[in-house]
Amino acid sequence: TQVKNQLIDIFASMGFEIFEGAEIETDYYNFTALNTPQDHPARDMQDTFYLSPEFLLRTQTSAGQIHVMEKKQPPIKILSPGKVFRSDSDATHSPMFSQMEGLVVDQHITLCDLQGMLDQFVKALFSDEVKTRLRPSYFPFTEPSVEVDVSCHVCGGKGCSVCKGTGWIEILGAGMVHPNVLRMAGFDPEKCSGFAFGVGMERVAMLKYGIRDIRDFYTNDVRFLKTFSRFE
Ligand code: DAH
Repeated sequence: TQVKNQLIDIFASMGFEIFEGAEIETDYYNFTALNTPQDHPARDMQDTFYLSPEFLLRTQTSAGQIHVMEKKQPPIKILSPGKVFRSDSDATHSPMFSQMEGLVVDQHITLCDLQGMLDQFVKALFSDEVKTRLRPSYFPFTEPSVEVDVSCHVCGGKGCSVCKGTGWIEILGAGMVHPNVLRMAGFDPEKCSGFAFGVGMERVAMLKYGIRDIRDFYTNDVRFLKTFSRFE
């Protein structure tokens, strides 16, 4: 909750509005409208809990992007925090976790706008010394897609156990909204463009506070919870 509030404060100061989507989604909003049709191999990237052939527990807050674009015209600048669900469980994966999605759509939005905004974001989240690095990646709903690394806030980039000696830590996925996604939401990709990003909130909390097991967030051990009351 503290990390979520901090993320909301940072993005609200950049002019983002909050849009909260539903936890039960249709296959259309969670996948198809995000350029991931039936039988698309990228569906295997997420282990989905289906409730019926049509309904599912959303696997990503990206589902909210489409609802927003159906309701609003550019300029769009929204932030969508919420719970997501995947059939996956170990020290760094939980069947229920939280993401925060960002979406910006307007005229002349470029990858530079995305990187500039991310730079400001990580400086506000960690410290002024932290830098970002974009690595090419793949998500069906963005083109180009990037994975965003931050320079390690523990060792300053020299290499330590937190960054596994690389000096960099992966923090989120992002990219330029795919023209097919804009089209499916009723926009003309010749007239507008946008960027999107999705960040795992537990992941941010784990990096920031050095938490090693995601399950600690949900087991309600008072000794664990008490260590955070001093940050309020
Ligand atoms: N939805 C992706 C996931 O859950 C994260 C993500 C990647 C969101 C790229 C985005 C994006 O909006 O542009 O793994």
